[in-house]
Amino acid sequence: MHHFQYRDGLLHAEDVPLTRLAEEVGTPLYVYSAATLKRHYLAFDGAFPDLDHLVCYSVKANSNLAVLNLLASLGAGMDIVSGGELHRALSAGADPSRSVFSGVGKQRWEISMALEAGILMFNVESSQELDLLSDTALNLQQQAPVAIRVNPDVDPKTHPYISTGLRKNKFGLPMAAARDEYLRAADLPGLRIRGVSCHIGSQLTQVSPFVDALRRLLDLVDGLRGEGLTIDYLDLGGGLGIVYNQEEPPHPVEYGRVISQEVKDAGLTLILEPGRVIAGNAGILLTRVIYTKRGEVKDFVVVDGAMNDLIRPSLYSAYHEIRPVIETAGASSPKDVVGPICETGDFLAQDRPLTELRPGDLLAVMSAGAYCFVMASNYNSRGRPAEVLVCGDDYHVVRTRERTIDLIRGESVPAEFIARAIS
Ligand code: LLP
Repeated sequence: MHHFQYRDGLLHAEDVPLTRLAEEVGTPLYVYSAATLKRHYLAFDGAFPDLDHLVCYSVKANSNLAVLNLLASLGAGMDIVSGGELHRALSAGADPSRSVFSGVGKQRWEISMALEAGILMFNVESSQELDLLSDTALNLQQQAPVAIRVNPDVDPKTHPYISTGLRKNKFGLPMAAARDEYLRAADLPGLRIRGVSCHIGSQLTQVSPFVDALRRLLDLVDGLRGEGLTIDYLDLGGGLGIVYNQEEPPHPVEYGRVISQEVKDAGLTLILEPGRVIAGNAGILLTRVIYTKRGEVKDFVVVDGAMNDLIRPSLYSAYHEIRPVIETAGASSPKDVVGPICETGDFLAQDRPLTELRPGDLLAVMSAGAYCFVMASNYNSRGRPAEVLVCGDDYHVVRTRERTIDLIRGESVPAEFIARAIS
């Protein structure tokens, strides 16, 4: 359930008509609904009522400071994967002691930063990372809290680019190597073993792969405890899918019920790292039609939003529903909704049945709250869109639109150097 609904034929974000946002803030524009974020977070967190658990929102899904602050204020910890994300989380007022740090390529400066902040746990993804972590912690006269991220070799049955828990993926340590690495880690002076972790993929629409992975992790926990190690946390990662089109993902309550059943007697605190299921349907991209044109075999709607603003359709062939902001009656015909970028791959939707559109009309690209703004770029020297957070009948611009002048910030023309280079 989200709060982007038609009222008298006009699409609203909560109580704010999208036409008002387009006029006052301009397009393309990301619009997030505070009520939806809150609802999704509370539904997810509430899905594990009888289980000691911690929800670490996956910052990478939508890392706007206002979004992070809202979720942290509701009690969310954070799942971070870089020093930049840690900086965002801290700037947004998140509690580092409720946050975990994943990722295959953590560097010393990022590890130091996280140790100094006092994060709950590092999810370590390689043998070499264990050594670097121990060494960095010792330099700071600390012991780093550690889980090893294992690769349970479970097929999440999702898009290959967002599958992470298969043997062929770069993530985690192979299950077969886990026990020995744990025993080695237990002997490293800068480490303190706290848990086990995994993340098998994103946009999963079934519970069974989670259960398969979980059972493998619980076996590992048993084995490690048998070796005398203390394991307090099991981090199952994120990955629960959402409805973009016709998908039928399990409701968080169902997911929570099944997972809780498996973990309830294990004497563990369960950590979850949801991203998409919290933010995905809490945002839209609002875009305006610039031109319409009839090709020889297709009709095109050229809008002011493009693949640099929202790359999921181009990158993953992802489906995002397109809704006209003003509901129109009449026949619909298939159209490609495309951006101004000079690439054939620049489309937001292809062959989508839409009613007649005119320059100036507004469209909402739905389910754009997760992995959309965060993956935006400046390709074709386009400034990234503004972001607004709506609450009831009010809104706030939580990130201003990048201006043309922002696009050349940090660049310079070393005139004499270039003169020498071309002489
Ligand atoms: N934890 C870890 C370690 C992750 O790598 C991810 C996502 C999550 C949690 C959150 O997963 P979620 O609950 O959001 O599924 N750009 C892609 C999605 C990439 C996901 C990467 N990792 C997309 O647009 O679909």
